[in-house]
Amino acid sequence: MSRLIRAVIDAGALRHNLEVIRARAPGARVMAVVKANAYGHGLVQTALALHSADAFAVARLEEGVRLRQRGVQAPIVLLEGVFSLEQLREARQHRLELVVHDALQVELLEAAREPHCAALWIKIDTGMNRLGFRPEAFRAAHERLHALQPAAGAIRLMTHLAAADDPDGHLTGEQLKRFAAAIGRIPGERSIANSAGIFGTVAVGGQWVRPGLALYGASPLPERTAQALGLRPVMRLETSVIAVRQVPRGETVGYGATWRAERDTRVAIVAAGYGDGLPRSLPSGTPVCVAGQRAPLVGRVSMDMIAVDVSTLPTVGVGTPVTLWGEGLAVEELAGWAGTIAYELLCGVSERVPLELAGSAAG
Ligand SMILES: Cc1ncc(COP(=O)(O)O)c(C=O)c1O
Repeated sequence: MSRLIRAVIDAGALRHNLEVIRARAPGARVMAVVKANAYGHGLVQTALALHSADAFAVARLEEGVRLRQRGVQAPIVLLEGVFSLEQLREARQHRLELVVHDALQVELLEAAREPHCAALWIKIDTGMNRLGFRPEAFRAAHERLHALQPAAGAIRLMTHLAAADDPDGHLTGEQLKRFAAAIGRIPGERSIANSAGIFGTVAVGGQWVRPGLALYGASPLPERTAQALGLRPVMRLETSVIAVRQVPRGETVGYGATWRAERDTRVAIVAAGYGDGLPRSLPSGTPVCVAGQRAPLVGRVSMDMIAVDVSTLPTVGVGTPVTLWGEGLAVEELAGWAGTIAYELLCGVSERVPLELAGSAAG
């Protein structure tokens, strides 16, 4: 079998989406969020393909180190910062910018006894209630960091939006007000917007934007498709048919016998399952793209296989190509069938699925 499951990553679509984001946030610099293995797209190849991004953001120290080891020279921001002096030393060695969201991290920087070698981002919690200094604690933290790093521009300011995909924009407006009030006249570049902040209804502003999902060509807004936003899907999760069988009326398909044939049904067995990251929660009726045509999933997703009713597609046979998501079948749509979000499907593509780059990383 020449075409078992693989995720084809379109480097051209990545760069196209970066330009769409730039047009949407004119004048802002783009910090491309490549954490969680670039949302399943491959950390290093994604960063190399996005070589014109102004910076990269990762969640974990190891991700930043890996990018440096693979030759990425652009600024790299550690979104959760560091948690020990040893990590701080390693971050310094690799010139990683740090988010400082907690008093413990200020103490680490003080204990290091020398200024950090790259920018620090102080994070203000304006309503997400996850990471960041409460507005009333922010000034004291900022003063301590400023005492360590007095150079102009060394300390930048950020917050994270909790509900920028909400069309009424109420919480976003509130968060922007709290951010502005906390900062007052303190100088420093600001970063607020994630993908939904860039494309949403409220003008968010800031010198830096931090898109993740939109770079990968999925819509961050429930009521707008990626296509309507001008974004192109970057990942195509594709596989092929490995068997075709005739299921007589009245018989069932798959574990738990959850689907029963109401008529004699031609069923294609497709090489993809929850072992590849396809959610087991996908119900019968979920669309699967077989030879470019939509056909319904029947029965439960198993570890390595799914079954698809191809009664209306007589040319389907062993080897017929199948797209699970990508052009023509948005990952957001599939996520809706699974009762989850595109982020989880993209990040959940398992290690056994090879990532193949289409188009040049250098492009
Ligand atoms: C602090 C921060 N900024 C930006 C992003 C990117 O978010 P999105 O993928 O919604 O654009 C994330 C992702 O979770 C994040 O944690």
